[in-house]
Amino acid sequence: MTLADLERLESEHVMGTYARFPVEFVRGEGARLWDDEGNEYLDFLGGIAVVSIGHAHPALVEAVREQAGRLMHVSNLFYTEPGMRLATRLAESSLGGKVFFCNSGAEANEAAIKLARRHRRGGEIVVLSGAFHGRTYGALSATPQEEKQAPFAPLVPGFVAVPRDDPRALAAAVSERTAAVLIEPVQGESGVHPIRAEVLETARECCDRHGALLIFDEVQCGMGRTGTLWAYEQTGVRPDVMTVAKGLGGGLPIGACVTSPRYADVLRAGDHGSTFAGGPVSCAAANAVLDVVMGDGFLADVREKGEELAASLRAAGCRGVRGLGLMLAFEVEDAPGIARRALLEQRLVVNATGPTTVRLLPPLTVSREEIAEAARRIEALLSIP
Ligand SMILES: Cc1ncc(COP(=O)(O)O)c(C=O)c1O
Repeated sequence: MTLADLERLESEHVMGTYARFPVEFVRGEGARLWDDEGNEYLDFLGGIAVVSIGHAHPALVEAVREQAGRLMHVSNLFYTEPGMRLATRLAESSLGGKVFFCNSGAEANEAAIKLARRHRRGGEIVVLSGAFHGRTYGALSATPQEEKQAPFAPLVPGFVAVPRDDPRALAAAVSERTAAVLIEPVQGESGVHPIRAEVLETARECCDRHGALLIFDEVQCGMGRTGTLWAYEQTGVRPDVMTVAKGLGGGLPIGACVTSPRYADVLRAGDHGSTFAGGPVSCAAANAVLDVVMGDGFLADVREKGEELAASLRAAGCRGVRGLGLMLAFEVEDAPGIARRALLEQRLVVNATGPTTVRLLPPLTVSREEIAEAARRIEALLSIP
């Protein structure tokens, strides 16, 4: 099938929820992708932070192949080892409580929101402006963006938004009616905005004072993306609950909601569930990803490469370079146009999170040569009007 065939099939049979670029990818390896005509691309988007250890990582491919060939699914009515092992590793490497598995970031946040309401019946959920927590009704209700919410009203009640950078407004919004404060420690979809320490500390204090849960959405910034396994490790603030997805499965769909010991048993039998969640293949994949990301020196290398990428972008003339680890963005006029030209003219995959922001989320395994090459391609783009 040609690209034109795919475009025709899409227009006839696929709901128009995505504006796709006119490229068909057929193969990937590391931080490289190839289209159907054999052209090679540098992938600095990683499937939006999903391809954490690169395309076709041999250990990940082997773990998936081995598990798929042995046992693909049995349901949560029975035990399988990969899920129990993964839950143990996720809990022990973070908040120390228990894990609920699901299939996506939105679902991880749904679990966290339900857990918060189970903890405080009818309680409000306080969120920050600019946040993105997903597209399902609970997660969408926690995403205070008019254009995403308005067409789907009425939303789930009880969500309160405060400005992202205003600790006093946050403190004023939290009370004994609050079930949880839900925050992305580094906002991703709004253009890579690390939340100020003072805001996170205020959230922690208010939650402690009023018995509310502090939930961190690490769907995009977790799993080593910022140079520590979890972004909260760099903030000095420990949440009660954390949500993870995207990079966790390295390409397979899996999400998780992780608690501290104190809130480990809030959700009880029958409270929540999901047919596919915690299936052995996705969990085997996540275990393989964790093996790599928790390997000796891996995260220190992510931090160094993140600094190198940020420095190279600045040297290439990019303005407003910001972010943590390999979660970076910069400002440019007509970011959507630049992202399109990056793809079609420079064969560099990035994306625009808004009219003036280009975001980079390369695989964490990206090489220093690839970082230098991506910066060269961006410099070329910025210098040719
Ligand atoms: C911080 C954050 N939370 C939640 C989500 C939703 O994840 P999913 O698309 O897997 O439902 C995203 C997706 O971009 C995200 O960046």
